[in-house]
Amino acid sequence: MRRCLDLARAAAQTELPVLILGESGTGKTLLARAVHNSSKRSSAAFVSFNAAALSDTLLDSQLFGHDKGAFTGAQKAVKGKFELAHGGTLFIDEIADLSPVAQAKILRAVEYGEFERLGSERLQVADVRLVSATHLPLVAYTETDRFRKDLFYRIGGITLTIPPLRERSEDLRALVEAEISAASRQQGKTVRGLSRPAADVIFSYPWPGNLRELKRVLHAAIAMTDGDSVPREAIALDVAPRRLAASAEAASPADGGPPLPAEPSVTDRGPDADLTLRAAEARHIRLVLDKMGGNKRRAARALGVSRSTLDRKLGT
Ligand SMILES: Nc1ncnc2c1ncn2[C@@H]1O[C@H](COP(=O)(O)OP(=O)(O)OP(=O)(O)O)[C@@H](O)[C@H]1O
Ligand SMILES: [Mg+2]
Repeated sequence: MRRCLDLARAAAQTELPVLILGESGTGKTLLARAVHNSSKRSSAAFVSFNAAALSDTLLDSQLFGHDKGAFTGAQKAVKGKFELAHGGTLFIDEIADLSPVAQAKILRAVEYGEFERLGSERLQVADVRLVSATHLPLVAYTETDRFRKDLFYRIGGITLTIPPLRERSEDLRALVEAEISAASRQQGKTVRGLSRPAADVIFSYPWPGNLRELKRVLHAAIAMTDGDSVPREAIALDVAPRRLAASAEAASPADGGPPLPAEPSVTDRGPDADLTLRAAEARHIRLVLDKMGGNKRRAARALGVSRSTLDRKLGT
C-alpha cells in the first residue's frame, strides 16, 4: 500500500494518464480524487463519469455534449464531460465496461484531444488529464480483445494497483480504530474499541468487500453497541459459518472459536426486502435470541444492551 501511495504521489506531479486497478471497495475512486487533489490541476475541475452506467445512445451527448437542436428535445447546448473537465481531470470509472463503440470514440478524443458536440461540425478541443479505474482484469481483457490495446496503452501511463484489504493486515488495525471512533462520534456513542471476541472475528475475516465492507460492518456494529466495547454479536458478517470458520482457523488454528450464526445477505432478500436499520436490528436481535436458545437475559448481554432495552426493542 505504501508503494502504491508513493507511486500515486509521484504520478500526481506528472501529466501522465493514470490507471487505477484493485478489487471492488479498495478505494480506487477515493485515490483518483486524491491524485487530482495533489496535482497541478487541483484548482480546476475533477469530472467523473461511470462507464458501466453509460449506454451507447447516451454516450455522445454525455461525453461530448450537444448543440441546441441536435435532437428532438435538445433545447439548449449542453457541455459534455470532456469540455467540463477542460484544464482539470477527467475520471473514467469502471473503464473496462466501455462498449467497443465507446472505446473507439474515447480513443479518438484522448488521442487527439479533439471531438465534436453532437449536432455540430465544429471541432472542440479539451485539455484533460485522464484518470481511469476498474476492478476488472483489464490486461486479460486486452488479450481477448474485449478491450482495445491502443486505448489501454493510452490510459495506462502509470498504473496504480491497490492491494486488497486482506493483504494489508498492518493497516487493518489502524483502519478499524479510525472507523470505530468516526462511527461512534457520528452516532453519538462512546464506543472505545472491540471486545476480544469481536476483534478475533474482525482480524481473521478475509474482507472480500474490502474497505467498503469494513466500514459497513463497523458502522452497523456501533449502532448495535450500547457499552464502550463492541460485543462479538454486533459484528454481522454476510458469510456462511463454514467460510468464517475456515478463515478463523487459518489465522489461529489453535483457537478458531465457534462460528457466527449465518445471516443471509440483505442483497439476497429480493427486491422488496426491508432495508431499514430498524429491520436489520430486528433481524439481528432475533438471530442472537435464537442463538441463546430464547434466553433474553443472555441475549441482552450478548447484544451489549440492558434487559429493559431488549424488552423495549422486542416490544414486550
Ligand atoms: N484508506 C481509506 N481509509 C478510509 N476509508 C477508505 C479508504 N479507502 C477507501 N475508503 C472507503 O471505502 C469505500 C470504498 O471506496 P471506493 O469507493 O473508493 O472504492 P472503489 O475501489 O472505487 O470501489 P468500486 O470498485 O466498487 O468502485 C468508501 O466509502 C471510501 O470512502
Ligand atoms: Mg469506485
